[in-house]
Amino acid sequence: DKGNHKHFMEKEIYEQPEVISRALGHYVDLIENRIDLEAVSIDFAKVQSLAISACGTAYLAGLIGKYWFERYARLPVEADVASEFRYRDIPLSPQSAALFISQSGETADTLASLRYCKDEGLQIGAVVNVRESTIARESDAVFPIMAGPEIGVASTKAFTCQLAVLAALAIGAGRARGTVSRQEEERLVRHLTEMPRIMSSVLNSIQPKMESLARELSKCRDVLYLGRGTSYPLAMEGALKLKEISYIHAEGYAAGELKHGPIALIDENMPVIVIAPHDRFFEKTVSNMQEVAARGGRIIFITDEKGAAASKLETMSTIVLPVVDEIIAPMIFSLPIQLLAYHTAVFMGTDVDQPRNLAKSVTVE
Ligand code: F6R
Repeated sequence: DKGNHKHFMEKEIYEQPEVISRALGHYVDLIENRIDLEAVSIDFAKVQSLAISACGTAYLAGLIGKYWFERYARLPVEADVASEFRYRDIPLSPQSAALFISQSGETADTLASLRYCKDEGLQIGAVVNVRESTIARESDAVFPIMAGPEIGVASTKAFTCQLAVLAALAIGAGRARGTVSRQEEERLVRHLTEMPRIMSSVLNSIQPKMESLARELSKCRDVLYLGRGTSYPLAMEGALKLKEISYIHAEGYAAGELKHGPIALIDENMPVIVIAPHDRFFEKTVSNMQEVAARGGRIIFITDEKGAAASKLETMSTIVLPVVDEIIAPMIFSLPIQLLAYHTAVFMGTDVDQPRNLAKSVTVE
């Protein structure tokens, strides 16, 4: 049932505040503002490193998770797409843990990487939506994302729920390893629990702008997305979402890679979507934006109130989100990215919920 939405994808985008709040309820002790360590059933204190493997959008969630586990838990992380991971002959230690992220829990390559790690004696954790799935069944620890059924082929709410769960796990791992103090844990958890409310207000406020911007994007052949830090995987997710449902060619790049190649593409016909909250990378990303502007590139700037005030650059459009803590920025900044892809596809008249050539669950290699 789509309710009063035109597509499942739209419904699932708007469901995010509700499902994330439910997912967080599973990992967070709301009275103490702490992570419920019983829900984090891997003993991260004893783990030497972490391997993350997944496909598509779930892999991009895993990449953001990598930044968090490194930063908050000081845990070395190896993250790769499952189709490479399974064949790379990665030297893995039985003192490591491995996380497999999958909405369906049935993706063939992800399952094969899981089995590889199991044979190597690693502790196996699964971040899944479908709890009865094969990946969940074959894991030592299951971390449900509780997004509810996702019908739209393009993943939206599963992505942000995966992020919420990975954030909680990374903070919990940090606490277990003594790299996140009690005070810091409470601060981070408070930001996580505020997130659903912020998501609702962002969803309510940005929709008209996303629709008018989508009208512009629907005329383009190519789009480049740029970001740094956790906004880099988010740039790749933005590009993936757009190409999947609108069939517009899009690429996501680390902003710092611009001058190593993609800058050659810049002209007035290819919009450059820059994802840049006012974080510790902001100035660097703005200087990449200047390089785009200097070559006649048109910029769609997705930033926050501080970032909008700090940048003097002329843009094709600036989307201003509230200032939020770094730990929740990827989830909040996912919203304009999802809506932009969605409305662009609607303008183009594609089959949004069932894009051509794609399947919801990829059970063959
Ligand atoms: C993107 C998308 C795919 C899936 C990928 C993994 O919108 O839906 O890239 O994320 O096929 O699927 P799961 O998460 O079921 O393993």
